[in-house]
Amino acid sequence: MAKDYQELLDLLDLQKLPKHVGIIMDGNGRWAKQRRRPRLYGHRQGAKSVRSNVELGVELGLKYITYYAFSTENWNRPEDEVKGLLKLLKEHLIKEIPNLNKQNIVLKLLGSEQGLDKGYLNEINDMARQTHRNNGMQVNIAFNYGGRLEIVEAIKKLSPKEIAELSPESFGDHLWTAGIPDPDLIIRTSGEMRLSNFLLWQSAYSEFYVTNTLWPDFDKKEMLKALLNYQSRTRKFGGIA
Ligand code: IPE
Ligand code: IPE
Ligand code: MG
Repeated sequence: MAKDYQELLDLLDLQKLPKHVGIIMDGNGRWAKQRRRPRLYGHRQGAKSVRSNVELGVELGLKYITYYAFSTENWNRPEDEVKGLLKLLKEHLIKEIPNLNKQNIVLKLLGSEQGLDKGYLNEINDMARQTHRNNGMQVNIAFNYGGRLEIVEAIKKLSPKEIAELSPESFGDHLWTAGIPDPDLIIRTSGEMRLSNFLLWQSAYSEFYVTNTLWPDFDKKEMLKALLNYQSRTRKFGGIA
């Protein structure tokens, strides 16, 4: 018989949680299609999954969760969908900031400013700033994010001296994720087994978990299953077990 939420929670070792979980939230379109509804309906439903996922993260005591919300390649989608996604992020933030503050959450936006208008950027950055005095879990939204662009932008800003002194350990300090530990676990919903330009540099030693569940259906129980699966892995970092 399938385990219920409490049974899964009892199996989880709270001392061995991943410090940073990255989530590629995929499948909103397919979820909507199954219901013969427009793709944006799926994206709106996906935003609700984020809320419950964040809640669970706080309950468990996770330190960092990064949600992939819009990639630098997602500009290739129809204009209506792109506009809808930009609007959804802003509206979701307006609605959620009080909630995030109540949960002592620090919100950070990771991504490029390219293609986004100044007014819009100011609004979303202002909202994130409203959480910066908190010191609980950190929620990163990878928005207009692309791993390749992140790396190229970092390199372009380096001085000749910094380039001469660069090392694999220090390079991360120049990325948008500076100060954030590498993700221990990367979850992708909807069965696709690819990174789609998510945290390329940072995922060198991440554990991957792919589920066929579509993002709007990824509830707290699904998250517990992913975390339990992570806890069954042996991480070796090139060494031996
Ligand atoms: C993920 O859902 C959300 C974004 C990429 C913004 P999709 O919109 O990619 O859903 P599918 O892959 O078409 O089902
Ligand atoms: C990855 O999903 C990007 C986000 C979840 C924001 P996509 O649906 O855009 O990825 P591909 O196109 O299937 O690789
Ligand atoms: Mg997709």
